[in-house]
Amino acid sequence: MRAQLGLWLSLAWVCPAATLLRSPYVQNVAGDRATIVWVTREPVAASIQYSPDGRQWRSAAAASTPFVARHTGETRYQHQVELAGLSPGTVYHYRILADGFVQRDGLRFRTAAPGPFTFLVLGDSGAGSVAQAELARRMSAEGDASLVLHVGDISQDDGSLDCLEAHYFAVYAPLMSRVPIYPALGNHDYGPDLAAPYLFVHRLPSSRVPAADAGRYYSFDWGEAHFVSLDTNLLVHAEIAERMLGWLDRDLGSTSRFWKIVFFHHPPFPSGHHREDAISASVRKSVLPVLDRHGVHVVFSGHEHNYQRSRPLRNGVPVAPERGTVFFITGGGGADLHPVGSRPELAFGAKVHHYLRVEVGAWRMRVTAVTAEGGILDRVELAPEPELAPGGPVNSGSFTPQLAPGSLISVFGINLASGHLRAAGFPLPAELDGVVVTWNDQPLPLLFVSPRQINAQLPYGIEGEGTVRVRTPNGSAEATTKLERAAPAILHVELGDALVPAVIRYSTGELVHSLSPALPGETLIIYAVGLGPVAAAVSAGQAAAGPVPVRHRTEVQLGPLLLTPSFAGLAPGFSGLYQIRIEVPRALRPGAYVLRVLTAGVASEAVTVPIGQEALAAEWDAEGP
Ligand SMILES: [Fe+2]
Repeated sequence: MRAQLGLWLSLAWVCPAATLLRSPYVQNVAGDRATIVWVTREPVAASIQYSPDGRQWRSAAAASTPFVARHTGETRYQHQVELAGLSPGTVYHYRILADGFVQRDGLRFRTAAPGPFTFLVLGDSGAGSVAQAELARRMSAEGDASLVLHVGDISQDDGSLDCLEAHYFAVYAPLMSRVPIYPALGNHDYGPDLAAPYLFVHRLPSSRVPAADAGRYYSFDWGEAHFVSLDTNLLVHAEIAERMLGWLDRDLGSTSRFWKIVFFHHPPFPSGHHREDAISASVRKSVLPVLDRHGVHVVFSGHEHNYQRSRPLRNGVPVAPERGTVFFITGGGGADLHPVGSRPELAFGAKVHHYLRVEVGAWRMRVTAVTAEGGILDRVELAPEPELAPGGPVNSGSFTPQLAPGSLISVFGINLASGHLRAAGFPLPAELDGVVVTWNDQPLPLLFVSPRQINAQLPYGIEGEGTVRVRTPNGSAEATTKLERAAPAILHVELGDALVPAVIRYSTGELVHSLSPALPGETLIIYAVGLGPVAAAVSAGQAAAGPVPVRHRTEVQLGPLLLTPSFAGLAPGFSGLYQIRIEVPRALRPGAYVLRVLTAGVASEAVTVPIGQEALAAEWDAEGP
């Protein structure tokens, strides 16, 4: 009797009226959000219930869009819910409802999280073949995959909604219900409507893409990887191509993630029957220089229906594995296969149905090509070594190459650290995230490491020329540096959106700026780096216990005056940070004055400091509330 009642209750919760035509799928997943999309035949009030533990459920209403199915002419309804405020690295259970009745239950997805992860790549899949179905089954069984890249030709026919329903959503439904697919537009996906169906069914990151091109190209982050999807079909339109490539340059230039992964449909180095493809030639001519400029690690493409892996390349020339981009063609997702040809860039190729499994670690990335039978076709590991920006280390205060003993230095480049890590305190560590920086083999105290920037301190007791070397678990890079006796640089701090010189009032610690000028007679403290040796035994990386004077004669130029500071030396509690104390002469008239620090005859770059009127300030005080 109890079992019958339970059956009756569960039946009562299942909506008999609504027909699910496209199963729910997750899109645009991040650490704190996800989008769920599905399609019904009926115009229902669609909603979703979701829960991080399967006990406490929250509800969200869907936005519904009607559309007409071309082959039947009937109107259907695409529903979409954007979930926000989610927790990273969390499995969310979800179910969809129609008119308040559960229509599909038992679904789940996982939000993005920091740390290692695995993703899958496939391309040229949409043919409805047995191989496509077998690959889909194997990909769905990859339990730990966080996301999937599709390098285009999702539908091998005309890119219509009907093709997408039959050869995409129907095939990958179990996978897509829990793992987001990030696609790139293939030539077949454009169809008759400039890829309108593709754009309609996907919800993709906006990534500051110009509105006219939204959804055609985009980028997103997952863990320490930055992914970029390009639409190589656009390369035949000069104006749009320029827009996309300008965006690409800015996008890759602004990412701070370690791994840079780019995917698009037309391969730059096709070896088979697309060898003379005009778009592939455009990719080589206009896309590759941007990828080389930013040290992209891997590129995934399709178009030729097979598997190909290039030699590691930089500027089109084979280089050591740790220094180049590896280009994969992964066009064996299910469509009829093409033979692999030959070309100098090709390292390995096979005419076989497959997908790629990519394991992204802190320092290494392993790419495995898996066949429809589950065999391993190919496997490579990428371990990119550090590369320093031209010019070598710079002064952390001025970003110029002028350095001195005790200077805080910034080293720019790529592949410098696997993540973002700050020193926990003093003394500063000689190693962070497995990264060591040396001056003539002497380890330097580290303040901060990240993939593109390291901040460290030079020792006080060194001089002359030296080699700064960055060593990571993947290799090392070095630059020669010549020290000055002093290299003073006034620090800047953020004030709203602006950067202002780090000049504060001694009495209150408040910043001096244009709306709060310094006053005649007031004592100011200027914060700077690079003033050189100090008059006591202080080790680099140690916080100064008290004010320790600099050895070199230090003066301050303020407008036409040369001032002798009442103190110039290390700031207590910090490492490599100097403070210079001056009194603003009472004779100075109000105005904006040039200020420089001169140490051992070396001048810092000039900053401007506003000086106000003492009497006026007194009047304000007197009249104030
Ligand atoms: Fe293609």
